[in-house]
Amino acid sequence: MKDVKNTLLERTSVRRYEREAIPEETMEFIFKAVENTPTSYNGQQFSVIDISDQALKEELYALTNQKQLKTCNRLLIFCSDYNKISLLAKKKGLTVPPFTDTMDGVTIGIIDASLAMMSAVVAAEAAGLGSNCVGYLRTVDPAKVAELLKLPKGVFVVCGLALGVPREHPDLKPKQPTSLVFHKNHYRQDDDKMIEELEAYDEVVKHYNATRSGGTSTNDWVAHILDYYYHAMDYRILDYLKAQGYDVKR
Ligand SMILES: Cc1cc2nc3c(=O)[nH]c(=O)nc-3n(C[C@H](O)[C@H](O)[C@H](O)COP(=O)(O)O)c2cc1C
Repeated sequence: MKDVKNTLLERTSVRRYEREAIPEETMEFIFKAVENTPTSYNGQQFSVIDISDQALKEELYALTNQKQLKTCNRLLIFCSDYNKISLLAKKKGLTVPPFTDTMDGVTIGIIDASLAMMSAVVAAEAAGLGSNCVGYLRTVDPAKVAELLKLPKGVFVVCGLALGVPREHPDLKPKQPTSLVFHKNHYRQDDDKMIEELEAYDEVVKHYNATRSGGTSTNDWVAHILDYYYHAMDYRILDYLKAQGYDVKR
C-alpha cells in the first residue's frame, strides 16, 4: 500500500489498463473506503452501481466514446440517491420532505456521491490501481444510461469511475499555484495581480501541453476549458433530473 503522501501527490488519471483482474480484497478495501465517506447529516444519499459485465461496459462505451469504459476492469457509477431513504420512510409511514424539489437537496446528493467517488479514487491509488472519473456518463445520454442501469426515481448518475491495473503512468498535470487556490482569510481583492498569476499559469499549461509525453497540443488553459464549457451548455441536466423524479423549484 502506498503512503498517504504519495497517494495524494502522485495521483493522475489513468485511462489505459492491463487485462489483469483487480483482486477481490482490493475491491473490498475500496468499498469500505466508499462506505466510510463523510456525508451530509450522515444521510448517505448515494449509491454505487458496480459494473463488471463486459457487455454493459461496451454499451456505455458506445454511448460515450470513452474507451476506458470498456477496457477498465471495473466500472463504478456514483449516483445521488433519495430512493433508499424514501422507501424506508414510506414503509414507516413518515412524510418525505421535498428534497428532490430543492437545489440544496440536489446539491447534498451530488456532494455525497462526489465525496464517495473521491474515497474510491484515493483507495484505488493507494492500492496501486489506476482510476479515471468519467463525467460523460452523466451528460451524453442520461436517459439511456438511466435505462441501462435501471435507475429508479430519486436516483441519477453523478459520475463514473473506471478502475484497473495501470498500463500507463501519465505525467502529473500542472495545477493552479497555491496563491490562486488558497485565499487568506477572505477572497483576494487584487484582481490585477490575480490576472498576472492566471496568465502565468495559462503559459505553464500551454508549455506542458506542447511538450508532454503521450500526445502534444497547442492548448492553453483558459480557451481550452471554455471550449469544453460551451459544449456543456448544451447538456439538458434539468430535463434529466425531471425524468428521474426531481422538480427543482427553490
Ligand atoms: C467530475 C469529473 C469528470 C471527469 N470526466 C472525464 C471524462 O469523461 N473523460 C475523461 O477522460 N476524463 C474525465 N475526467 C478526468 C479529468 O480530465 C482529469 O481529472 C483532469 O484532466 C486532471 O488530470 P489528473 O486527474 O491527471 O490530475 C473527469 C474528472 C472529474 C473530476
